Order: sequence, then structure tokens, then C-alpha cells
Amino acid sequence: MLDEIRAGLSRSPKEIPPKYFYDHRGSELFERITELIEYYPTRTEREILEAWIPDRIPGLDVRALVELGAGSGEKTRVILDAMLAAHSPIVYVPIDVSAEFLKASAARLRVEYPGLKVLPIVADLADPLVLPRELPGPHLFAFLGSTIGNFRPKKAAALLGRIRAAMSSEDFFLLGVDLRKDVAVLEAAYNDAEGVTAEFNRNVLRVLNRTLGADFDLDAFRHRAVYHTGAHRIEMYLDSTREQNVTIPGIGVVRFRRDEPLRTEISCKYDRESVAALCSAAGLHLAEWKTDAKEWFALALAESRP
Ligand code: SAH
Ligand code: AVI
Repeated sequence: MLDEIRAGLSRSPKEIPPKYFYDHRGSELFERITELIEYYPTRTEREILEAWIPDRIPGLDVRALVELGAGSGEKTRVILDAMLAAHSPIVYVPIDVSAEFLKASAARLRVEYPGLKVLPIVADLADPLVLPRELPGPHLFAFLGSTIGNFRPKKAAALLGRIRAAMSSEDFFLLGVDLRKDVAVLEAAYNDAEGVTAEFNRNVLRVLNRTLGADFDLDAFRHRAVYHTGAHRIEMYLDSTREQNVTIPGIGVVRFRRDEPLRTEISCKYDRESVAALCSAAGLHLAEWKTDAKEWFALALAESRP
């Protein structure tokens, strides 16, 4: 962690990897974001899942679901219900960095789904994908919520490549992606009126203070999220409200100018062509594409290409 933070803070603009948002509080704040009126992705993806998955799952004939960046697994229940209606028992492997939160969601699912074997894995998606041995197949890999968009294009392609490498020819990959749209809609989703996204953003500083013993003053950083049309992505920042020094044990004193931006996240937005290209760079074939009526969000179903 120290190496990653040191490297990020020595870039221009300074950066912190977005995975550090997600301690237990960060995961809870993200859940609150998903309920905000401005944050359309979660409810739109759920709508597509509900309209499509119950009919589509039986034809896939899958026995295990491996979900990357699973979070609370709330929307995943639509997939689990459909899988359990087709076969029981089935295995669910949620993978996430947010250890405590993952454990709590796994415990809830075990109680609510007797036909489900839950094997949670705490891991960073940037690392090799290590799955439990003897997972019944075929497998459905899922990466929902457009979390793929929080990875830079090269890292996103490498991650899909690792998923592809773990897939057999009978397996499928379901990818949720947020689509390009009106800038006002996109920017509102990351600048909600209640300030929950600002709290989520500043939580990364709280994580650094708690984990590394840093002394970031949370009140001295201002939330900002802007859409970059050319790069097709939201960029989220914490701007330093004054000139200040922050001490991070193991790294030293980090100087911030007044109004200096600290980038905390990118959130790439896609269209069908860019998703097909991303899949194909990883050796995956984009077979099916479903969107909501407004074409704000899409679910892509991909197969591994021999
Ligand atoms: N899939 C859920 C949650 C999305 S929030 C949904 O669609 O609503 C993003 C999730 O990915 C969080 O639970 C976070 O802890 C996890 N995450 C982010 N970066 C990660 C990384 N590098 N490795 C593993 N998990 C990561
Ligand atoms: C998890 N990820 C896809 C969210 C997004 O929309 O990029 C994280 C988020 N950041 C601010 N609001 C939500």
C-alpha cells in the first residue's frame, strides 16, 4: 500500500488508487450512493438484469457464479435466483477488497439461500485470479456496476485477459457498463445534492489516516467530479482548499498547493463498439448486448474465443 500511495502522490496530478475508498465505511457510503436519485447506474442495471436474466440463465446452464468487485451482492440476487431456479445447489464466489463488508454480505446470503454455497475471496483484482479448486462448471463470471470503468484502459484489458484465461469454452462472462450520455446527467451522478459522493470521496483520506497514520485534514479538501468528453470518462478529485503539508509515515511530508487537485478515481463510459474492442483485446467475443430503453447502461454477455 505504501509503495502504491508513494508512487501515486509523486505523479502529476497526484493520485490515489480508487480501491482505497473501500473500507467498511466506504462500502456503506457506496451503498448509499446507489440509492441516490442522481446515481442512475445501479437501478438501471438492476432493471436490465430483471428483464433479461431470468429467461437467459437456463440456456447458459451454469453451476457457479464468480463475481468480481461483488460489494453487497444486492443486484446479484437476480442472477442467483435464476441460477437456483435452474439448478440447486450452486456455488457463489464473490471477490472483493473490502474484507469485512464481503464477509457480512456472504453471511447474509448463506442464511437467505440454503441451496447456495458461498466461497468469498478477499483479493485485489489487479492480482492474478485464483479460484477455489473443484468449482462446478460451467461458470458464469460477472463484473457488474461498471467497476471496469474505474480501471485505465490497459489495466481493464489486462483484467479481462485474466478472466478470459480462467474461462473454459463453456463459460460465460457478464459485464455491466455505464454508457456515454448527456454530460449533465453524468456529472450530476457524481455530484449529488446531498453530498454523499463527496463523503465517499473524502473517505479515502480517512483510510490513509487510519491505515498509514497520515494526518490529512478532511475539511481542507473539496470534492469535484468532471466529465472529460474526449476521454469519455468522469474524473473525481479532492482539491486542496489551501496550501498545506501532509505527513504520511513511511513516505514523508507531501506538499499541496492551494487548489491543487488530487485525483481519486476515473470512471470510463462506453458504447457498444468500445466494449467489443475491450473484449476482443482480451480474447473475448461480445455475443449479446442488452440496454435499458434510454440506453444509459448496458449488460454485455461474452464468450471466450478459442
Ligand atoms: N458490484 C457492486 C459493487 C460496485 S462498487 C455493484 O455493482 O453495485 C465496487 C466494488 O469493487 C466495491 O465493493 C469495491 O470494494 C470493489 N473493488 C474496487 N476495486 C477493487 C480491486 N482493485 N480489487 C477488488 N475489489 C475491488
Ligand atoms: C464502483 N464504481 C463503478 C463507481 C463509479 O460510478 O465509478 C464508484 C463511484 N464513484 C463515485 N460514485 C460512485
